[in-house]
Amino acid sequence: MKTLPLNKRGIPASRLVLGCMGLGGGWDREAITKEQIKEGHEAVEAALSIGVNMFDHADIYTRGKAEQVFGTVLKERPELRERIILQSKCGIKLAEPGESSNVFDFSKSHILSSVDGILSRLGAEYLDILLLHRPDPLMDPVEVGEALHLLKQSGKVRHFGVSNMSQGQIKLLQAYSDEPFIVNQLEMSLEKIYWLDSVVSVNQQAWREQGMPEGTIEHCRLENIQLQAWGPLAQGKYSGRPLDEESETVRSTARLVRTLADEKGTTPEAIVLSWLMTHPAAIQPVIGTVNPKRIAACEGADKLTLTRKEWYDLYVSSRGERLP
Ligand SMILES: NC(=O)c1ccc[n+]([C@@H]2O[C@H](COP(=O)([O-])OP(=O)(O)OC[C@H]3O[C@@H](n4cnc5c(N)ncnc54)[C@H](OP(=O)(O)O)[C@@H]3O)[C@@H](O)[C@H]2O)c1
Repeated sequence: MKTLPLNKRGIPASRLVLGCMGLGGGWDREAITKEQIKEGHEAVEAALSIGVNMFDHADIYTRGKAEQVFGTVLKERPELRERIILQSKCGIKLAEPGESSNVFDFSKSHILSSVDGILSRLGAEYLDILLLHRPDPLMDPVEVGEALHLLKQSGKVRHFGVSNMSQGQIKLLQAYSDEPFIVNQLEMSLEKIYWLDSVVSVNQQAWREQGMPEGTIEHCRLENIQLQAWGPLAQGKYSGRPLDEESETVRSTARLVRTLADEKGTTPEAIVLSWLMTHPAAIQPVIGTVNPKRIAACEGADKLTLTRKEWYDLYVSSRGERLP
């Protein structure tokens, strides 16, 4: 089994992470409910029971309610805090009524106040890992470095990482921070394959059209930066979601996933995740389901390894066209 870059740094993270964006109901401004807290307990328990010890949040998820629900679970099960690895993100400001768009903000004051909000909602004294959520074009790397330094010195955050960033952006931030960036969370799944298409189309016209800047995956591998995959279940497209509106490419890939799952006596979820986990970068999928049955269906993923042929069959099927 592959060793995670996080494990190599002494952080005992599990192969899968539970993404907590689905906790707390909708993205409204209602208070959290008893039912949502119960769902939180059930999701956390389902994750722990398949060996997941790492949980991914962001200050914005369901407008802070996901962290509030999780914080209530921790308050009711205080022994959990030291057994788990808690990760959250900051840097996105959701649009307020009358504002036309979300914006990104990596100013020192925003990063520092966001972390205070996160810790207060989670009822935690520290975060294991803080990620900068999406690159802010106006970021001043000196200011970011100062903010991270203060967070580390105060004990509020133990480690740092980024999300949705290219190697160039990581290098710029790293040049001005004492703290290593140890995670890059990117959208990667059997459906969202730009991270691979950019690899196989170097020297081709198609390369220009890829959404993943050259060398990002390679930089993370060289620097022992943990690649985390968000959206790894592709919202269930290959594992049971109705496909009436989907293309034949998606449908035929879903059939292939089902066939492989039947052959290996496992679930489609495990196949879809093991496709990511077979990649030599030791990718850590951040599963977004909070449904205990679906969490359980992910269990087999780290016990499987796909053959080279199976892996390529899935990739080519999802691409919808032959490789060059
Ligand atoms: N860094 C970033 O910018 C970023 C962006 C988005 C997400 N994230 C993180 O990544 C995590 C995962 O992302 P994600 O939620 O987009 O990805 P996902 O794991 O691919 O999808 C999970 C979603 O798909 C639904 N789903 C899964 N299988 C299904 C099926 N067979 N039928 C119907 N629905 C199904 C789940 O609903 P149920 O809950 O009902 O199972 C859930 O809403 C999030 O929780 C969050 O922590 C990070």
